[in-house]
Amino acid sequence: MARRELAQNRRLLRALLVPTMEKRTSLHGHWSSRTTFILAVTGSAVGLGNIWKFPYVAGENGGGAFVLVYLICVVVIGLPIMMSEVLLGRRGRRNPITTMKVLGEEEAGKSWWQIVGWNGIIAGFLILSFYSVIGGWSLAYIERSIMGTFVKADGAVVTETLDSLFASWPRMLFWHSLFMVMTIVVVAKGVQRGLERAVEVLMPALVVLLIVLLFVSARLDTFQAGLTFMFEPDFSKLDGDTILVAMGQAFFSLSIGMGAVMAYGAYLPEGTSIGSTSLIVVFADTMIAMLAGVVIFPIVFNFGLDPAEGPGLVFHSLPLALGQLPWSVVLSTAFFVLLTFGAWTSSIGLIEPTVAWLVERHQLSRPTAAWLVGGAIWFLGLGTVLSFNVLSDFQFFKGTIFDNLDYLASNILLPAGGLLIAIFAGWVMCRNSSAEELDLGTGLRYKVWRFLTRFIAPVGVALVLLNASGLLAAMRG
Ligand code: PHE
Repeated sequence: MARRELAQNRRLLRALLVPTMEKRTSLHGHWSSRTTFILAVTGSAVGLGNIWKFPYVAGENGGGAFVLVYLICVVVIGLPIMMSEVLLGRRGRRNPITTMKVLGEEEAGKSWWQIVGWNGIIAGFLILSFYSVIGGWSLAYIERSIMGTFVKADGAVVTETLDSLFASWPRMLFWHSLFMVMTIVVVAKGVQRGLERAVEVLMPALVVLLIVLLFVSARLDTFQAGLTFMFEPDFSKLDGDTILVAMGQAFFSLSIGMGAVMAYGAYLPEGTSIGSTSLIVVFADTMIAMLAGVVIFPIVFNFGLDPAEGPGLVFHSLPLALGQLPWSVVLSTAFFVLLTFGAWTSSIGLIEPTVAWLVERHQLSRPTAAWLVGGAIWFLGLGTVLSFNVLSDFQFFKGTIFDNLDYLASNILLPAGGLLIAIFAGWVMCRNSSAEELDLGTGLRYKVWRFLTRFIAPVGVALVLLNASGLLAAMRG
């Protein structure tokens, strides 16, 4: 009896709420079309994560088996969580903190779900603080390319170029500052629209250049060795931590778990299919990461570099191949311009949730919010700048300050955020709400999403986290 009453009350409540929900629109306007939304989310997803981070973490973690776990995570955890984030964002139509607060109250009578938003804001802060420094490396490499440093360069020249950048904190600080200012200016002016249009041209251009490089790699004697390294799984290379890093990489690369996609979903018009848009983004992002890996590893082996050398890997290997090409000045400049551009569109996704929150909640103007947040993140970035020189010996837990920022944000905060998002969308939100928002019908496609979101994604994330923390082994005795 009590239960039926409860259900009745809920239905009444929903009847009262639904009309207001339908009127809910975003303060920041809407995307003009589905294509703009896809471009924005792809712009946020494709970036340094695909070209800089994926190859070096795959290299550090032994290749094939890591790549396989990464791909599995993308499909069974990444895709359903991305769809969940878009659906929550569109239903809430606010910044991630307010969205989760409002939806939590609507669906469960609890406002503490806003912690998902807070978790995301912290993750975005930490990630952008190092992301901007690496974006700065890419800027520095534009300059090097224009100067012709890489033309016919041999291993010694390329190593010297990278080492001298790492050794000089003022240079790194300069480029980091420039990258941060570029990000702030775009977010302050709200000129994202222009950038999305540019994504349409520049992202394919990046892919074209990677394909050109693929031809270079394919002609190397080490092409086969590169492919074997990437695709032949050696399961002895897997342990709890490598599995966690592979999952963290899936979250990082897809931009999920921190509210970036949720913030973009808030501007998505009704009637746009969340399923197919998410699928397109996930597919594009994953293909670009694979392409980068297939290009880079043969080069790494050909020039006797160490695939496990760490964050410098791409900046070490690609200039060697670019320098061999005809018009190498043009091509290597183009490559680093496009890489910087990819990083730029991602950094906007990293900062947008916090800026949107300050604008909506504390009535700051967009420029004030952007400069405030950007300034704070810039300052935090000093930790990463110094990790490569002055403080390189200051190591704890996972390594340098940079290593720890990355580990904490990518492998703990993003998965934790994703776990909560999946639980909310799969268990807390009532079936009607998610079915209505996803608009997949009630057939197989909806059932698959719901199954993945209720069971596979949360259980998978929880197991990987527990396993890496050693708790699982402890529980087994
Ligand atoms: N996905 C981006 C990349 O691969 C990084 C990012 C993470 C952007 C989280 C936004 C949010 O480079």
